[in-house]
Amino acid sequence: RLVSMTDMLNKALEGKYAVGQFNINNLEWTQSVLEAAEAEKSPVILGVSEGAGKYMGGVKVVSAMVEALMETMNITVPVALHLDHGSSFESCKAAIDAGFSSVMIDNSAYVIDENIEATKKVVEYAHSKGASVEAEVGTVGGTEDGVTGGVQYADAQECLRMVTEAKIDALAAALGSVHGDYEGEPVLGFDEMKIISDLTKTPLVLHGGSGIPEFQIKKAIENGHSKINVNTELQQVWTKAVREKLNSDDKVYDPRKVIAPGKAAIIATVTQTMQRFGSSNKA
Ligand code: G3H
Ligand code: ZN
Repeated sequence: RLVSMTDMLNKALEGKYAVGQFNINNLEWTQSVLEAAEAEKSPVILGVSEGAGKYMGGVKVVSAMVEALMETMNITVPVALHLDHGSSFESCKAAIDAGFSSVMIDNSAYVIDENIEATKKVVEYAHSKGASVEAEVGTVGGTEDGVTGGVQYADAQECLRMVTEAKIDALAAALGSVHGDYEGEPVLGFDEMKIISDLTKTPLVLHGGSGIPEFQIKKAIENGHSKINVNTELQQVWTKAVREKLNSDDKVYDPRKVIAPGKAAIIATVTQTMQRFGSSNKA
């Protein structure tokens, strides 16, 4: 029942909207994102970082949980289960073998020739199993899962090589976005975005989607972004809501009651984000 990202992203590129990748951390997180997607009639990508995958008990547990939830929740919208920032062929293969319908291979730390070579190998395996592949050119800055790095803009010719040689389905071309919180207003390379989008004709992926003002999101979509990743913002709204619950109610001890406001916060944020990205009613 899971689908790859290919169709949903090509449609989004055509229709000038973006599909959100919402990173999940546990059962309730997954329920909340799926519930919002179904209510919004929006395609959705469930992002799972290697760290979050390990936290949930491994990719097999994640895949079984998502499949079962989709069945019991009667989810009818297109859902892709995507490994976020896969660090190796082995890690991508394990996710695909477990049932993930999409992977990102992040070789952005390597020089471009090595990045393309390693990505090719992942694409061959993924495509043979019907899964889609996202690769990164340049480097997204900031901190994710405790790993911090600086921004390195993607080179347009390298992006073109990645798309034509490795035959990827989606391209994360780093153009100034960062993981985690932005210091001040984000400074994104919109001109470079347009050039890379026109050149590669491939759905672009915006990492570091939390904390980007709405007008910049709109501009990024206009300039070729079809997938926007949101992780930090969901963690922040969840924690804020749970903290408020604990601060305002010192009698509560049932974990389901402690977590309930966190779920509601995720549903509200994902719903609003889908509306902003324009993916509502596009399923
Ligand atoms: O891969 C995940 C996203 O790029 C996370 O971005 O930290 O801005 O939510 P974020
Ligand atoms: Zn990312």
